[in-house]
Amino acid sequence: MRMSQPAPQPPVIGLVDPAGNPFLQDQFAPVDEEIDVADVRVEGRLPEELNGSYLRNGPNPQFRPIGSYTHPFDGDGMVHMVTFDEGRASYRNRWVLTRGLAAERRAGRALYGGMLTPFMPDAASIGPDGDANPFKNVANTNVVRHAGRTLALCDGGVPYELGPDLSTIGEYDFNGDLPGGMTAHPKIDPVWDELFFLRYDVVPPYLVYGVVGPKGRVTRIEPVDMPEPTLVHDFVVTEEHVVLFDCPAVFDSEAMQRGEQALRWHEGRGTRIGVMPREGTGDEMLWIPVDECFVMHFLNGYTENDTVVVDYVHRTRPDMLSGGRSDTPRLHRCVIDLSRRSAHDELIDHRAVEFPRIDDRRAGLRHRVGYAAAATDPFGVAEGIFDSVVRYDFEAGSSSEHRFQPGVIPGEPVFVPRPDRYSEHDGWVLVMTYDTQRHTSDLVVLDAARFASAPVAVVHLPVRVPMGLHGNWFPA
Ligand SMILES: [Fe+2]
Repeated sequence: MRMSQPAPQPPVIGLVDPAGNPFLQDQFAPVDEEIDVADVRVEGRLPEELNGSYLRNGPNPQFRPIGSYTHPFDGDGMVHMVTFDEGRASYRNRWVLTRGLAAERRAGRALYGGMLTPFMPDAASIGPDGDANPFKNVANTNVVRHAGRTLALCDGGVPYELGPDLSTIGEYDFNGDLPGGMTAHPKIDPVWDELFFLRYDVVPPYLVYGVVGPKGRVTRIEPVDMPEPTLVHDFVVTEEHVVLFDCPAVFDSEAMQRGEQALRWHEGRGTRIGVMPREGTGDEMLWIPVDECFVMHFLNGYTENDTVVVDYVHRTRPDMLSGGRSDTPRLHRCVIDLSRRSAHDELIDHRAVEFPRIDDRRAGLRHRVGYAAAATDPFGVAEGIFDSVVRYDFEAGSSSEHRFQPGVIPGEPVFVPRPDRYSEHDGWVLVMTYDTQRHTSDLVVLDAARFASAPVAVVHLPVRVPMGLHGNWFPA
């Protein structure tokens, strides 16, 4: 009798129970198929000038997670693409086939722990091309296009390049110039087409700022001196300045090594705003202490004389560190006075909002219009339960709301300008929605100038699309 090889031992951390995690159920439950549908049913009339593809990324774990499952940081990336071609729509979805996911497919199970319970899989399980890192690079948060490449991004690693058909080409480290990758929210300068990025890490340097030129070459990498590693998911780049918020969401690498929660909220540590010249060095960062808060996403910011204006979603602390229903994220405006080294913060809107966006042609410039997903239940955002999208006119000091049917949850609103028009008012807003009664998904096309009115068109997607994260429009 021949002894068989011993089976690989499962990790000491246990399987996550989907029934105990709202982000693995209902509108967040992952789908298990990749499909292509050439002609998707459209209600209303798709504008004929609207030619291109809307791509949206989001977590979609292929295997039952182990350790912990923290929305929005865990779960394999899946990109959903809706293509518009002269009034017709098609749909396609694909997982981002990361090295970690490829290893898990070979193993037939999850090998990596969650963001809060990082776990180094054994080398034999992940194989020679696996992701030898306790944090799996899931590439699940955003999808951007720059210098001819489409990149799926998350905060934890090197971007993954996708082909036009959403197939995964592989990790893209900018020809070796960016081995550590970038966070999920690089900024693309609408005038010069430079891409600006941050990268945070649990080992020094804890924060790095960098620039990629219009032809796709890394032209600058600047370490920013930080006393400890903090979560810096998003930032702002104006015509003259880089602005970031250093909040007390701190990574604890010792706790991590003990297999305990890796991210903690250091009550009383305070928040500080960092401002540096866009072409400056990390040691030119001006730090301004402000009231303790947390920011996940910025709407936009711009420099005006000696001030920098930053619109952002203010939170008392991150959802995943607040024990759920204790936070109402709201739109704030922070005016930073550079000569006085002070900041004045003001509430713009009482609504609970997230996923703030603008016309990206105004990125870093003075914007007039902005958008966000909103929730009537002030705690809805923590659970991802939005019920409307809001359009702000910051010059007029007004807002309008597009409210969906009860039980229909909208995601991030994405503005698409009408071709060859330069007004922030002229174009459409794309919103992916999820019907929690029917478990169906639509891509809703709103006229930006008649935002509260009935949609111009509704694309009834052929399969449910779980609620996800960020997306962008790429013109044909
Ligand atoms: Fe984000």
